[in-house]
Amino acid sequence: SYQNIKISTPKPGVGLITLNRPKALNALSSPLFVELNDALSKFDKDASIGAMVITGSERAFAAGADIKEMQSLTFSAAYTTDFIAPWSHLSTSITKPVLSAVNGYALGGGCELAMMADILYCSRTAVFGQPEIKLGTIPGAGGSQRLTAAIGKARAMELVLTGENFSGAQAGEWGLAAKVFETAEECVEGALKTAEKIATYSRVAVKAGKEVVNKSQDLGVREGVEFERRVFHALFGSRDQKIGMAAFAEKKKPEWSHE
Ligand code: CAA
Repeated sequence: SYQNIKISTPKPGVGLITLNRPKALNALSSPLFVELNDALSKFDKDASIGAMVITGSERAFAAGADIKEMQSLTFSAAYTTDFIAPWSHLSTSITKPVLSAVNGYALGGGCELAMMADILYCSRTAVFGQPEIKLGTIPGAGGSQRLTAAIGKARAMELVLTGENFSGAQAGEWGLAAKVFETAEECVEGALKTAEKIATYSRVAVKAGKEVVNKSQDLGVREGVEFERRVFHALFGSRDQKIGMAAFAEKKKPEWSHE
């Protein structure tokens, strides 16, 4: 029943969300985000799903926030409605791993959405950028923070202040993308394969793995290592730790309980 996205489960344990506003190059309108957040929450709650992939089309992952929707927005309306705050749903409330498979344009909010994912894959010719400066504004959905964390201040500052684009190949060289593919098809297939692999592991351990890596973005190394150790300790209380280690000792394949 979605108008702006499509959802499917193309591989065991994998939920695929395809942004689908082709006429607007998948510009991220408010109605699109309502649907995206709904789909993410549904997959997150679905016990049969272990990981998710967000992708767009070969031409555009997403060409940014919807400029036509923002054009006449006032400060007071943006402030009182906390405009684009719902975009944080993916990074604050979704506990299962999310991969982004980026082909074509990932500009402004599109680049920001791609970077909210836990793992970013792209094709070599993908076009990333934070072009908001050209519109008389700045990134508003975490771009200045996540891009800087991923590729360092020197490059991020240059990109945010010039609005210049960068390629998927560069995203790989700079460490923003975990993998870079030759074609759009290979990129989506690669993301689905990785999601499928993650979905074969214990849901409890995967959730903990995502949580501890994400904590590294907010905590100093010492606090982060202490946090990691406490979560590591906690996993000795899971059934899956016993199942996983017993299976290793018995040279068998683990049958996870997800408990
Ligand atoms: N919002 C609304 N509509 C958009 C859009 C956007 N971000 N990007 C593209 N579209 C629309 C175009 O208006 C056009 O619609 P019409 O056919 O009705 O005119 C359609 O999509 C196709 O786009 P183009 O004709 O422009 O296609 P192109 O191939 O010539 O150019 C492009 C492609 C370089 C991506 C160009 O569309 C473009 O520059 N888009 C805007 C990119 C941008 O500035 N993004 C940042 C938005 S601000 C933001 O995201 C704020 C934030 O941080 C949250």
